[in-house]
Amino acid sequence: MIDGHKVIFSGVQATGNLTLGNYLGALRNWSLLQNEYECFFSVVDEHSITVRQDPAELRRRARNLLILYIAAGIDPKKSCIYFQSHVSAHAELAWILNCYTYMGEMNRMTQFKDKSAKHADNINVGLFAYPVLMAADILLYQADVVPVGIDQMQHLEICRDIAMRFNNIYGPVFTIPEPYIGKTGAKIMSLQDPTKKMSKSDENPNASIYLYDDRDTVIRKCRRAVTDSLATVSYSEEQPGVRNLIEIYAACTGKLPEEAVAEFEGKGYGDLKSAVGEAVADTLAPLQNEIARLSKEKDYIDGIIRDNAERAAYTANKTLRKVQHKIGFPDRIR
Ligand code: TYM
Repeated sequence: MIDGHKVIFSGVQATGNLTLGNYLGALRNWSLLQNEYECFFSVVDEHSITVRQDPAELRRRARNLLILYIAAGIDPKKSCIYFQSHVSAHAELAWILNCYTYMGEMNRMTQFKDKSAKHADNINVGLFAYPVLMAADILLYQADVVPVGIDQMQHLEICRDIAMRFNNIYGPVFTIPEPYIGKTGAKIMSLQDPTKKMSKSDENPNASIYLYDDRDTVIRKCRRAVTDSLATVSYSEEQPGVRNLIEIYAACTGKLPEEAVAEFEGKGYGDLKSAVGEAVADTLAPLQNEIARLSKEKDYIDGIIRDNAERAAYTANKTLRKVQHKIGFPDRIR
């Protein structure tokens, strides 16, 4: 642990096509935080198998996601970026925490309800227990802060509950983490139904901007975004489509939503949509170029994968051993 530095943990699932929501809500903030915190950013491939995956595709997506972390400005020398499946302590702590988590509290998880409705033919125990694995991810690194989008707040709440319950029984073992929600971009909505969040698994490809969409596609999707018939630009709940476009514009340009609204005063939705499209495309282009460059650096990426897995395992195992001792498992003999 870096002396005096607080710890950050976060992760993204290696599932589906990443969206602008993942970038603006999570990844973009990570690189901004890495100078002030000791950071662990995991490609959470173990979470991905709660829905059925094609093995070759999962492997490819996981590697591409790790490359994306670096392309998004996360410095692998400063921050530890690694695959969750390379650190066995995640699964081990998750099992232990399962035994300190109640069915009743898990039953309240809205994401489980949504996902089990979507995958009715595969409602597996992993899907149900998923927030416990997420709690293990965070608690293993004694994270003080967890940067996420708003949709993960309920999972973070249960993580805190489990940690406090454990600490009440065994003394102060876990740091109780706080969420970090970015000023803009914490909940990017679907372009086709702005009452729903933009999601990797949306069946309508026009609803989401994917991080790998080219410029023309981005601009076309923004032009088709659903707005309303009020013909005025505001950042209010009554205009969810327009509000979402303002949110995206603000997040991509670094402006405040109020500044963005002022910029479009008196202008039509056509102007707003074009400006949003340009701003998003300008945000994604450098990211895409960097991904293309890094994808060719096989040895460099392999080195990061190897070294960082060891770094992560070192910290994670320290917490795991402490937990195992506290609950009464026999100590290892060296
Ligand atoms: P995941 O993979 O669904 O999403 C990764 C991150 O992207 C954020 N996000 C969004 N932010 C704004 N607008 C959106 N439309 C949007 N969609 C997604 C999410 O809030 C998240 O921060 N369970 C987690 C992964 C995870 C994790 C963890 C996160 C596993 N272990 C430990 C933090 C700490 C998930 O499925 O995120």
